Amino acid sequence: MSAPRKVGTGFRIRRANSQAGAPQSTETGFRIRRANSQAGAPQSTETGFRSRRANSQAGTSQSTETGFRSRRANSQAGAPQSTETGFRSGSDGADGDGPPFAVDVRGLTKRFGHKVAVNNIDIAIPTGEVWGFLGPNGSGKTTTIRMLCGLLEADEGEGTCLGYDFRQQSEQIKRETGYMTQKFSFWEDLSIRENLDFVARLYRLPDRRKLVEATLEDLGLFHRRHQMAGELSGGWKQRLALAACMLHAPKLLLLDEPTAGVDPKARRDFWDQIHQLSGRGITVLVSTHYMDEAERCDRIVYINVGHLIAKGTVAEIIENSGLITFTVAGDGARKLAEKLRGAPGVEFVAFFGAKLHVSGYDRSLLEAALASFAGDSDLIIGEAATSLEDVFIQLQQNRRGDTP
Ligand SMILES: Nc1ncnc2c1ncn2[C@@H]1O[C@H](COP(=O)(O)OP(=O)(O)OP(=O)(O)O)[C@@H](O)[C@H]1O
Ligand SMILES: [Mg+2]
Repeated sequence: MSAPRKVGTGFRIRRANSQAGAPQSTETGFRIRRANSQAGAPQSTETGFRSRRANSQAGTSQSTETGFRSRRANSQAGAPQSTETGFRSGSDGADGDGPPFAVDVRGLTKRFGHKVAVNNIDIAIPTGEVWGFLGPNGSGKTTTIRMLCGLLEADEGEGTCLGYDFRQQSEQIKRETGYMTQKFSFWEDLSIRENLDFVARLYRLPDRRKLVEATLEDLGLFHRRHQMAGELSGGWKQRLALAACMLHAPKLLLLDEPTAGVDPKARRDFWDQIHQLSGRGITVLVSTHYMDEAERCDRIVYINVGHLIAKGTVAEIIENSGLITFTVAGDGARKLAEKLRGAPGVEFVAFFGAKLHVSGYDRSLLEAALASFAGDSDLIIGEAATSLEDVFIQLQQNRRGDTP
């Protein structure tokens, strides 16, 4: 097994006369020096998590289908989660006796006419974990979710959801799965309580009144119970939708962009609830376009044009991307961006706030490009840890995500 490769922050490039400290000069007029690097020490990144890699090999994507089970370790709201191999979740499911994998499907494929919306996807989610489902618009997330919960028939594929054959036993799967649709789909002219009551009737749930009251309390909706759903803001609508899909005590939650258009505080509250539910052993697959939400997941699946492109923890996905990222700050950064686009070794150039991120796979080509275009300007150039967003931009740009 090769030694873990460090993620970012290994080097800093600085202009020769920009700062005191006498770094070594190079032929190109830059000074390059190693900063804060220690062999083998995990590097922290700008987003605050530490890259940690277990049993990984550079360049190979990580599979969760190798028989290990993982659990949330040192969980903190807002902190990205690491998973550890070799031990398992305290709970097998909401009632503690479920299968080891809540979702375990292989070769999932869906065609609409000639279009292949989902192409040969394998997903195995250990029971009790929270997985993020990411990919550009139209990449196949909703289609995949709808196949998993039996609302859409797969053209190909085999496997199980909650231990049931996902092709043959969709009724059982639906009974134990909560699906939150991408678009709010409740009755706008009913109150929150009436909506929940109606859903409870549809499912013929026993002790309906008590159950609705308890759910209202549980999800912080009690004080708004008489408010019409149509009058709710986006965040409260999402909360109602989550409450409705929790009523029948599902073991698996499939949430399709549940926080789209919701403000940061409401999104945080929502995620706190997701993690509370996960703490009870409920498995969650949640699609999102938000990077901060992706970092709250145990693992991420990234698809593009129906293909599964990357799978693993945030740290694994970043490391396996092989991307190296430099940042450029200063007045001339915008002009530099134009020059760097298309330069040899420069895969993409994008602004994150006032800083330009320049990423590529070949360090020497990247350094040469920066040296030739920024050599005489008064720019501050440094190496940064590649962020998840850098990786996703690159995966999206590759279209099929063919990383080297
Ligand atoms: N019922 C349908 N008939 C024909 N094509 C469809 C149908 N549903 C989805 N598609 C196509 O399948 C592809 C995947 O769509 P899907 O809705 O799964 O993407 P998505 O990843 O959920 O996108 P978004 O992030 O915009 O929600 C798209 O090209 C879409 O146009
Ligand atoms: Mg969708």
